[in-house]
Amino acid sequence: MTRIVTIVGSLSDQSKTRRLATHVQERIANAAGAETFVVDVASLVGDLAIAHPAKASPSLAAALEAIETADLIVAASPVYKGSYTGLFKHLIDLVDYKALAGVPVALLAVGGSDRHALVVEHQLRPLFAFFGAATLPTAVFVQDALLADGPVRDAPTVARLSQLVAEAVDALDIRTSRQRSEPARSAA
Ligand SMILES: Cc1cc2nc3c(=O)[nH]c(=O)nc-3n(C[C@H](O)[C@H](O)[C@H](O)COP(=O)(O)O)c2cc1C
Repeated sequence: MTRIVTIVGSLSDQSKTRRLATHVQERIANAAGAETFVVDVASLVGDLAIAHPAKASPSLAAALEAIETADLIVAASPVYKGSYTGLFKHLIDLVDYKALAGVPVALLAVGGSDRHALVVEHQLRPLFAFFGAATLPTAVFVQDALLADGPVRDAPTVARLSQLVAEAVDALDIRTSRQRSEPARSAA
């Protein structure tokens, strides 16, 4: 079955990034008929202090395998000092550099200030470009105040999130059709 893997880079118990990312993941999964998996750095803090994936604990190894075999990734981080969090980056540092080539990636960030809204373009997008991943055209930054009391209601942000969900569903559709036709093509 098609699988969406969401990576949450927050360390907070009541993380707004986690809430936003899992909401987006559910919307994509419902529209695409996909299953979901969440990799949360908050639950891997004690496992991440390694330099090589060969040393990964069973939980970290399962998280890395999920990321490396995902059909679509939702990559979501709070903004810390104008970028993604350090532990989010360290988790990504442990991912096989060949595993994400062509994989669609939806980019999300939550921050305290709109001054850092371009973190999705200037930090998250280049990180996934390193892997040759297919980052979706629409990346969404959400100011944390908009998530203070339940789901986002700010109309421009809601519209951007819907656009991102639509692009993700299309990307999954193209990917699964291609995967279905590939065995037929190689047998011909
Ligand atoms: C250490 C730290 C650094 C932060 N740096 C920034 C920043 O540079 N720019 C910004 O807009 N918000 C910054 N914030 C605010 C967080 O991005 C914001 O509170 C966000 O909602 C946290 O997400 P979470 O609830 O998922 O943990 C920072 C917060 C912390 C704790």
